[in-house]
Amino acid sequence: MNNLQYIVQISQHFHILKSIDSFEKLTKYTIPLDDDIGFLLPACKLHFHNDKLISLLADWRINNSFAFPTKFKITKAGTINWLENIVYKNEARILFFVLNNHRVPIGHLGYANCINDNNFMEIDNVVRGVKEGDSGIMTYAMKSLLKWGLDNFSPARIYLRVFSDNEHAISFYRKLGFIDLRLIPLYRFEKPGVEYFESSEVETHKNPDKFYLEMVYKNL
Ligand SMILES: CC(C)(COP(=O)(O)OP(=O)(O)OC[C@H]1O[C@@H](n2cnc3c(N)ncnc32)[C@H](O)[C@@H]1OP(=O)(O)O)[C@@H](O)C(=O)NCCC(=O)NCCS
Repeated sequence: MNNLQYIVQISQHFHILKSIDSFEKLTKYTIPLDDDIGFLLPACKLHFHNDKLISLLADWRINNSFAFPTKFKITKAGTINWLENIVYKNEARILFFVLNNHRVPIGHLGYANCINDNNFMEIDNVVRGVKEGDSGIMTYAMKSLLKWGLDNFSPARIYLRVFSDNEHAISFYRKLGFIDLRLIPLYRFEKPGVEYFESSEVETHKNPDKFYLEMVYKNL
């Protein structure tokens, strides 16, 4: 697939899934996990006003804030804004909910930064919200997400960035076939109400406050 075909394919496919406006269509686009352990459900318009789901997502974000580069007060209004404006309106990004075979939401994961000159897809927002039970479901979910990305978009690379001190996640990704590529220095910044870690061209005289480990999927 050349770069233009890749970009058209990503834009169209992500748009179709995110624009789902009926539960009938949502069922059609559900991605099953192997061994009937559950499935992936695309996050779409139908979810913006699902109060129970929004509360769940806000709780998951609070409980897993250590894994995110930006720290701020999590609210339900902010979570709706994130789903609608940061995920839904970003044509290079898609999120899937991970449901078990009783249709209980367990976590989420997706892709981001998929529109670029290199046909690269980045794994995004991998979180197990429900920590107990459904052992192995996030591994199955990652395998299905990888297969879906490979089958539909033939990317040149699938990669991810994880904090280098997040040992459990790194071991989880290594078991799935990701290998270490490089460390990316990060610096801590503050704005009113927000603390965040970012790479920086200008802060390089300082010692980094943290590192991302960039990992790539080796089976490509
Ligand atoms: C990263 C994260 C999603 C991994 O979730 P997880 O619960 O470890 O993943 P799984 O659901 O696949 O469970 C794997 C465990 O189930 C076990 N398991 C049981 N049956 C299994 C099966 N058939 N296949 C795979 N694993 C199985 C594995 O041995 C593994 O146990 P271990 O952790 O003791 O090695 C989770 O730790 C998380 O949400 N972390 C916080 C957020 C985060 O750091 N995200 C990453 C940001 S980059």
